[in-house]
Amino acid sequence: MYRIAPSILSANFAKLGEEITNVIDSGADIIHFDVMDNHYVPNLTIGPLVCEAIRPLTDAVIDVHLMVEPVDRIVPDFAKAGANIISFHPEASRHIDRTIGLIKDQGCLAGLVFNPATPLHYLDHVLDKLDLILIMSVNPGFGGQAFIPEALNKLRAVRKRIDESGRSIMLEIDGGVKVDNIAEIARAGADTFVAGSAIYGAGKDSDPHRYDTIVSALRAELSKV
Ligand code: DX5
Ligand code: ZN
Repeated sequence: MYRIAPSILSANFAKLGEEITNVIDSGADIIHFDVMDNHYVPNLTIGPLVCEAIRPLTDAVIDVHLMVEPVDRIVPDFAKAGANIISFHPEASRHIDRTIGLIKDQGCLAGLVFNPATPLHYLDHVLDKLDLILIMSVNPGFGGQAFIPEALNKLRAVRKRIDESGRSIMLEIDGGVKVDNIAEIARAGADTFVAGSAIYGAGKDSDPHRYDTIVSALRAELSKV
């Protein structure tokens, strides 16, 4: 089962509520919520208050991708704001196992995020505790960057580890996902596809903003896998 997760980083922030309801009505599955702190990454976006404001608008899973350092202080705020999944970067936490525990204690699913150059050994002792593994196919901080092909090898390696574990762990890819590469990414093992500029860029000239065409095009490619 494949899930399409539009990144609201590329939405029109002046109409954020509408952008969220429209993209879900257009057939997307999950809202990917990019949190940047101008410290761990060189950009600044949205926080728990925005998560809380959008929570009543949709029943869709809100997938919070924390690009912040430190991580732990902000986790309970996102849980209270209605996040369903909270993912973080291992380099941004002093105590990775503790942060995973904190996310789960707050009633959320926990994810670990791997930058293009971050080794997979962080999985060695915590795989059994994770609900999601997110492979970055761009360096974090900005939407609209090109897919780094080495991410496909990483996906294959993680897919193997997940299958060997026998656990159901979501395998998410984030960065540069488009209609022309989503099938190849799925074949490498991803089941959850973040797409920011591909989705929100495609609907920006329609009035009202609708995303049916792009979401169907992504699904059509996935149906060929
Ligand atoms: C980058 C973010 C991504 C980003 C993806 O740091 O984590 O979620 O919005 O954007 P696109 O799909 O445009 O590469
Ligand atoms: Zn993201």
